[in-house]
Amino acid sequence: MANTGVMDRLVSLAKRRGFVFQSSEIYGGLGSVWDYGPLGVELKKNLKERWWRALVHEREDIEGVDAAILMHAKVWEASGHVAGFTDPLVDCKQCKNRFRADDERLKGTPGTPDARCPVCGNQGTLTAPRLFNLMFKTFMGPVEEEAAVVYLRPETAQGIYVNYLNVLQSSRQKVPFGIAQIGKAFRNEITPGNFIFRTREFEQAEMQFFVKPGDDTRWFEYWREQRMQWHVRLGITPDKLRFHQHGPEELAHYAKVAFDIQYQFPFGWQEFEGIHHRTDFDLSRHQQASGKKLEYVDTAANERFIPYIIETSMGVDRLMLVLLVDAYHEEAVEGEPRVVLRLHPALAPIKAGIFPLVNKDGMPEMARRLYDDLHRRLTVFFDDGGSIGRRYRRQDEAGTPFGITVDGQSLSDHTVTVRDRDTLAQSRVAADRLAEYLRDRLEP
Ligand code: GAP
Repeated sequence: MANTGVMDRLVSLAKRRGFVFQSSEIYGGLGSVWDYGPLGVELKKNLKERWWRALVHEREDIEGVDAAILMHAKVWEASGHVAGFTDPLVDCKQCKNRFRADDERLKGTPGTPDARCPVCGNQGTLTAPRLFNLMFKTFMGPVEEEAAVVYLRPETAQGIYVNYLNVLQSSRQKVPFGIAQIGKAFRNEITPGNFIFRTREFEQAEMQFFVKPGDDTRWFEYWREQRMQWHVRLGITPDKLRFHQHGPEELAHYAKVAFDIQYQFPFGWQEFEGIHHRTDFDLSRHQQASGKKLEYVDTAANERFIPYIIETSMGVDRLMLVLLVDAYHEEAVEGEPRVVLRLHPALAPIKAGIFPLVNKDGMPEMARRLYDDLHRRLTVFFDDGGSIGRRYRRQDEAGTPFGITVDGQSLSDHTVTVRDRDTLAQSRVAADRLAEYLRDRLEP
């Protein structure tokens, strides 16, 4: 892999600047589980708010929900996850390592004497592939018995389907309409990795759009386009985005048609959002298993039907990785190396750094007053430590779009310099117009 160095440097920046930390790091870390630090949590929050605004607040035809992670075990039987959400796995009886059956390192046919374990090197110790369910299982209440089994949800979608009638009745929406949700999902992935790309605990932003059968193809195309455009508007390099249509062997058990939106990561083209045509699979199965009628009654047309579902399913953490990778640049400025995160200003965790040029002559006091005024409206950061060049560099690495410097001239004419992170251009702006100046440049 030619570019793995870039990923390593990005992971190191993410830790250094407080975007992402290894979970339970002081105990040696928990495999493939990550925590978001002060800057990471702001970036993630901005991203989720932007998604919510575009899908729920700016539209009349989508409602939001926040369903619980724990659901009735029958949900996962009806959804097909108990039977079908599996990966074929191979075990080594000698070293106890476990591999996906499609792991390229496996040589020979597992389960026969010729196969060799890629870790311990023993021959004939690999079992034939066995199906392994990816759902995390736990027990509800004090007893550990089958009747008390609950699963940590592997997708947020089912929390929407089982609330479909509740939302329909309480919101008075009519088909076509959608339900959106952001929340945690859990999968006991066998080969997690690539930093926050594939983890065992992650967040999804999913929207399920309920349509009349016959209108499904049109809505599928509509949402496919909408979602791609939304990503382009985040400033992601368009040449690094593409669709990938699932072939028959890639389709999930619930999907009739599926397209991934992929990004060209340093480790190759990979999916970070899926658009799925789920037909009436989920609602029909829940209707059958629960005995509760989930039909939609179109009184005007005097029709009853189980709606088809078009799903848009985005991995929030995966999109975070897309944004970090896409924004990460190493360059030379006046012969000096600089690392900069060119994050979209609306997503940047900190909008402006505020710096007194030197710590004397009233500059810190004026910079502090500006900070006190601005931080009520924007996330701003006051920094009076080290040379001005070093302070700029720290904010460049944090992705802060603007640097505001109070200098000698500021004290006489009440203007400040505003440095643009990307162009490095410096403009003089009246201090009392600063909030407006920044707001105009931060909005999408
Ligand atoms: N409800 C449909 C569904 O869950 P999916 O393709 O399995 O579909 C949707 O997942 C998105 O969730 C993926 O595109 C990805 O961004 C994210 N995702 C899935 N598994 C993940 C994992 N182990 N770690 C991080 N993100 C994951």
